[in-house]
Amino acid sequence: MTTAYDRIRELKTFDETKSGVKGLVDAGITKIPQFFIQPQEQGELVSLPVEIPVIELTGANSDAALRGQLVEKVKNASQNFGFFQVVNHGIPLEVLDEMLEGVKLFNEEQVEVKKKYYTRDSSKKVVYNSNFDLYRAPAANWRDTLLITMAPEPPIPEELPAVCRDITFKYTEYIKRLGIILFELLSEALGLKPSYLTEIECNKGLNVLMHYYPPCPEPHLTVGTTKHSDPDFLTVLLQDSIGGLQVLYQNHWIDVPPVHGALVINVSDLLQLISNDKLKSVEHRVLANSIGPRVSVACFFTTPSNTSCNSLYVPIKELITEDNPPLYKETTAKDFTLYYDGKGLDGRSALDYFRL
Ligand code: OGA
Ligand code: NI
Repeated sequence: MTTAYDRIRELKTFDETKSGVKGLVDAGITKIPQFFIQPQEQGELVSLPVEIPVIELTGANSDAALRGQLVEKVKNASQNFGFFQVVNHGIPLEVLDEMLEGVKLFNEEQVEVKKKYYTRDSSKKVVYNSNFDLYRAPAANWRDTLLITMAPEPPIPEELPAVCRDITFKYTEYIKRLGIILFELLSEALGLKPSYLTEIECNKGLNVLMHYYPPCPEPHLTVGTTKHSDPDFLTVLLQDSIGGLQVLYQNHWIDVPPVHGALVINVSDLLQLISNDKLKSVEHRVLANSIGPRVSVACFFTTPSNTSCNSLYVPIKELITEDNPPLYKETTAKDFTLYYDGKGLDGRSALDYFRL
């Protein structure tokens, strides 16, 4: 039996190496430390052969009929799956590939270089660590992450690691433009004017999470990312070709297969809240794998959680009727994030806490 005291000491020892899960793998471990061992999930059935929709974004700015069809596709996917992939989104393949390569290069730098960025100070705009919720979650994940706050005010370029600096700025410029298109389509899917969600600042902030999932010697005992839904409004995810991302659909896990050149889009908690459950923030997870590394980049669109942004979010009044009363109490993006981060990934939804 491992005592609680041992667990905390083990977590600290691991954290203080500042070299993450990658450091364990480089040291040649063949058994994973106890604190990565995931409690077995109950009651979830095997994978279903259902496919997440892949939507062509061409036509977003063409005639009304084509745009109407596109809005319908985005609406159906967001209501039924909470997830879809987009192709023909206008971001060149080379930019996607270079972004993934940049994340890999950073994580494969010498420990001495990476250590300078390793911190748990979330007020910093560049934060590298392993498991943001290391000391709070029931089990650690087989993953290291570099988190960069790119909007509304990005860090000065010199604050970013040199090996991924230029591509991060370039990639996020494209993602911000794509974000405007997606929020327009989602506004229309809700029956609102196209600029609605952008006007209430759903995409004013952009947090970029660059994940590195090293190969795992005992992948069945742990996970890359615990089952969770995302805390922002909308997430745009770029994944490499390894696979392992799964989404809950009718209580079954379904795979989100890597499609070269595609981006995975998912509705997140705050969009479910303001849409009063019309759009779904669906739980997903990443399996650990004996092959790897796997690299992904998750861009979280959200309202900046600094003190100057105190916008209150409630279910959108245009969507509320007598038969459809508000399901959530008001919150700020900051309070929502504080609650979410404080709880950590424990398999429960943060939205429940805000439900009326
Ligand atoms: C996330 C996430 C999935 C992935 O960052 O919230 O779910 O494939 N990432 O890394
Ligand atoms: Ni997620």
